[in-house]
Amino acid sequence: MRHENHTLTQHAFASFKQNQRKSWSLFAPLEPLTTLSAARLVDFAGVRIGEKILDVGCGTGVVALTAARFGAQIVGIDLCPDLVARAHGNARLAGVEATFLEGDVEGMPFEDATFDRVFSQFGHMFAPRPEVATAQMLRVLKPGGVLAFATWPPSEFVGQVFALVGRFAPLLEGVSPPTLWGDKDFIAQHLEGSVQDIVFEEGIMQFPALSLAHYRASAEATLGPLKSFVENPHTDPRDLHAFRTELQELASRYFEHNHMRQVYLMTRAVKGS
Ligand SMILES: C[S@@+](CC[C@H](N)C(=O)[O-])C[C@H]1O[C@@H](n2cnc3c(N)ncnc32)[C@H](O)[C@@H]1O
Repeated sequence: MRHENHTLTQHAFASFKQNQRKSWSLFAPLEPLTTLSAARLVDFAGVRIGEKILDVGCGTGVVALTAARFGAQIVGIDLCPDLVARAHGNARLAGVEATFLEGDVEGMPFEDATFDRVFSQFGHMFAPRPEVATAQMLRVLKPGGVLAFATWPPSEFVGQVFALVGRFAPLLEGVSPPTLWGDKDFIAQHLEGSVQDIVFEEGIMQFPALSLAHYRASAEATLGPLKSFVENPHTDPRDLHAFRTELQELASRYFEHNHMRQVYLMTRAVKGS
C-alpha cells in the first residue's frame, strides 16, 4: 500500500513537470526583462575568474551568460528543452563556451560538491518540493561555496498574480506554492543548519505595458498557467470574465509610467564546511 501511494505520487509529480515543461516554453519573449535582473543577481552573488557556476532553472541562460563575462565556467540546467535550445543559441551569439542541459533541479546529474556557486533566478522556486530542490542545490555546491537566488515574494505583484491564478485553477495537491520562496522566514527555515551568513536584498523590476489590457494579453500569452486556464475549452465563460476583471484590477495597483512595478527578493548564503 505504501509503495502504491509512493508510485502514485511520483506519477503525479512527473505529470506536473510535464505540464511545466510545456508551459515554460512560452517564456522566451520575457528574456529581456530577466536579463536586467540577471546582472543584479550576479553582482549580488559575486563571481571570480575560473569558478564553476551552476544556473538552476536557467531558462534562456541569462544568469549563466552574465556570469561567463566575469570569467566563470558555466553550466545551466532547465526543465524546458525549448529554452535550453535558446540558451545554446544565446551562448553562440555571445561567443561564450557554455554547457546547457535539459534536467530537473529535483534530480540533478552532477557529482556532489561540483560547483563554487549555485545560482537560480526565478527558477528553483517552481520545483514542487522545496526540500528536494534545496537538498539538491546544496549537494552539488562545494563546502564554503555560495548559493544565491532571486525569487518573487507572495505579497508583491507576481506573487499576487500566481495566487489569483491558483484560486481559479488550483495547484496539484502536494505542490508547494512557488512564491513561498519569496518569504524570508520560509527561506531561513529551509536553509537552516546547512548554510551560514544569509543575506537578503530587494530589487525592483519593471514589466513594460502600454495599458492594463496590454499587460493582461501579454501575461496570457507568456505565463503557462494563465494560458492554460484561458484557453481551456472547459473554463466557464463567467469564470473567465471574473478572472480577467480581477487580473486587471490587481494589475492597476502596480501600474505606473507604462510598466508594472515588481519588487523581488535576492538571497545569498554560504554552505557550511
Ligand atoms: C521564470 S523562468 C526563469 C528563467 C531564467 N532563470 C530567467 O531568469 O530568465 C522559470 C524557469 O524555471 C524552469 N523550471 C521550472 N521547474 C523546474 C525544475 N523542476 N527544474 C529545472 N528547471 C525548472 C522553467 O523551465 C523556466 O525556465
